Amino acid sequence: MHHFEFKNNKLFAENVNISELAKEYGTPLYVYSAATFRRHFEAFDSAFNGLNHLTCYSVKANSNLSVLKLLAEMGAGMDIVSGGELYRALKAGVPANRIVYSGVGKKAYEIAEALKADILMFNVESVAELHRINEVATSMNKTARVSFRINPDVDPQTHPYISTGMKKNKFGLDMDTALTAYKTAKELSNIEPIGMDCHIGSQLTSIDPFLEALSKLLAFKEKLSSMNIEIEHLDLGGGLGITYDDEQPPHPKEFGEALTKALEGQKLKVILEPGRVIAGNAGILVTEVIYTKSTPTKNFLIVDAGMNDLIRPSLYQSFHNISEVVKNERPKVEVDVVGPICESGDFIARDRELPEVKQGELLAVYSAGAYGFTMSSNYNSRLRAAEVIVDGDDIIVARRRETYEDLLNLES
Ligand code: LLP
Repeated sequence: MHHFEFKNNKLFAENVNISELAKEYGTPLYVYSAATFRRHFEAFDSAFNGLNHLTCYSVKANSNLSVLKLLAEMGAGMDIVSGGELYRALKAGVPANRIVYSGVGKKAYEIAEALKADILMFNVESVAELHRINEVATSMNKTARVSFRINPDVDPQTHPYISTGMKKNKFGLDMDTALTAYKTAKELSNIEPIGMDCHIGSQLTSIDPFLEALSKLLAFKEKLSSMNIEIEHLDLGGGLGITYDDEQPPHPKEFGEALTKALEGQKLKVILEPGRVIAGNAGILVTEVIYTKSTPTKNFLIVDAGMNDLIRPSLYQSFHNISEVVKNERPKVEVDVVGPICESGDFIARDRELPEVKQGELLAVYSAGAYGFTMSSNYNSRLRAAEVIVDGDDIIVARRRETYEDLLNLES
């Protein structure tokens, strides 16, 4: 459920008319709904009330500072994957003891920054990384709390680019390697192993792969116990899918109930790292039709949002629902909605039925709140879009539109 709705044929974000927002702030424009963010976070977090748990929102999905602040105020922890995300999370006021740090390529300076902040734990993805963390921690006279990211070899049945828990993926440690890694960790002077972690993929629409991974992890925990290694944290990553088109992912409540049941009797602090399920449907991308153009075989709507603004359709052939911003009664036409970028792969939608739309009219691209702005770039020297948050009647400019000066700011 989200708060983008038509009232008298005009699209609103909460109490704010999207056409007016576009007039004021220009397009392409990311519009987020604060009420939707709050609702999604609450729905997800409360689904785990039966467990000792911490919901660490995955910053990569939407890392705007105002979004992070809003979630931090609701008690969210954060899952980070870089020094930049650590910087954002701390600036947003997230207590360091609610931050977990994942990712296969943490550099020494990033490790040092996280140790300095005293984050809850590192999710370690290789033995080489474990040694690097120990070195950095030793040099700082600190102890690093770690979990190992286990690769349980489970097929999450999602797009190959966002599957992460299969043998062929670069992520985590296979169980045998992980077992030796825990032994090594025990012996290292400045490492304290406190948990286990796994994240098997993103946009999962069934609970089964999560349960399969969890049961493998719990069996692994028994092995650790038999070696006198006791851990108290279990990080189950993110990955719960959302509806873009006609997918029917489990409701967070159902997801929470299934995991809670599977964890019955375990004395573990459970960490969840949801990203998309919190942010995805809390944002839309508003774009203007610059030109319409018909060739002998196609009708094109050339819009002012390109693959540099929203890369998901180009990169993963993802479906994003599209509608007019002001409903019209015109007949439907099959169109390709394409951006201004000089690549044929620059499209928002292909072969899509939409009521005829005219030059200068606005379109809303839905489910753009996660992996939308965060994956945007300046390709073709395009200025990155503005981001606004609507909160009831209020409008917060969460990020202003870039200028030509911004474009050259770091160049000599
Ligand atoms: N934890 C870890 C370690 C992750 O790598 C990810 C996502 C998450 C949590 C959050 O997963 P979520 O709940 O959002 O599924 N750009 C792609 C998605 C990449 C996901 C990367 N990792 C897309 O647009 O679909």
